[in-house]
Amino acid sequence: MLNTKIGTDLKYASNLLKNGHLVAIPTETVYGLAANALDEDAVLRIFKAKNRPQFNPLIIHLPDWEAVKKYVMEIPADAEVLAKKFTPGPLTFLLKKHPPIPNTQYRIPDLVTAGSPKVAIRLPAHPLTRELLLQLDFPLAAPSANPFGYVSPTTAQHVFEGLNGKIPYILDGGPCEIGLESTIVDFDNQQVIVRRQGGVSVEDIERALGKKVLLKTGVEEHPVAPGQLKSHYATATPLFVGDAVTLARRFSNQKIAVIAFGENMEDVAADFRFQLSKAANLDEAAKHLFSTMRQADACGAEVILTEWLPEEGLGRAINDRLRRATHET
Ligand code: TXA
Ligand code: MG
Repeated sequence: MLNTKIGTDLKYASNLLKNGHLVAIPTETVYGLAANALDEDAVLRIFKAKNRPQFNPLIIHLPDWEAVKKYVMEIPADAEVLAKKFTPGPLTFLLKKHPPIPNTQYRIPDLVTAGSPKVAIRLPAHPLTRELLLQLDFPLAAPSANPFGYVSPTTAQHVFEGLNGKIPYILDGGPCEIGLESTIVDFDNQQVIVRRQGGVSVEDIERALGKKVLLKTGVEEHPVAPGQLKSHYATATPLFVGDAVTLARRFSNQKIAVIAFGENMEDVAADFRFQLSKAANLDEAAKHLFSTMRQADACGAEVILTEWLPEEGLGRAINDRLRRATHET
């Protein structure tokens, strides 16, 4: 058991990372569990701390595109357009990593990419983590800082609840601005493929590119990304999505918590009520989604009921997370 500390000491955090230890870091999307991406022993500690059943590929975090160029073969034209518009920010790029170059350190281990020829690259916007990355001469591999399968953390306290005793330090950067994981984009010839919906909406990506993208985020397909696994992001309390009045009738003999988007669900008989956004704003709802799921999980209810949000903007990414959290489809 480690004594897990929470604080804002960048020097302490960077020293831990340089010595192969784990540090939870704030980003604008969710908190990440970071290790030196070039150090396989350090990366193994991530899988251990998270209790991940298999070695899934990890996103690497860098401060700027100058640093990215050391690790990838090329940056496709579409990626450049998106990079200009959305980075630093909640967008992750799948780019071809280069083969080993003798006598250099610039090689992302296969453990990080799970054998794939592509590496997932992200430039987080959170000022504290940007500052940290600038102090390091290696990228940080970082999945979301939650035990495998549970809701992603959006505060330092959430990280502490899940990983207390398993990591030495949590860098506290306050609550996450966006609250949903990054959108993952892949590039195949002239085609841009969205592999996970997240902090940048599909509409915004298409507007920036001036063309349609392909969506490959299905739950049924064999998952390329484990964020695509069904029953990810799940609460311990069963969660159901659908017409809330009908669901409330079905579970009328149980203690019910409802998670409303805005003013909806007011006519639903419930023991506990939560609201994602007073003004029914999708960006605000995204920011509050995971912390609200945690509150609903901890309030003493036996079931959690909620309704689908509008399929637009971040509503699509929110619905994706609900679909994966739900106990039935
Ligand atoms: O917002 C985020 O992206 C957060 C913060 C901490 O940056 N990170 C995050 O990491 O959500 P994680 O591990 O929970 O999800 C990473 C996703 C996984 O679904 C993984 O399969 C996919 O990225 N991924 C990573 N490397 C990949 C690769 N080389 N090829 C395909 N998918 C990859
Ligand atoms: Mg995750």
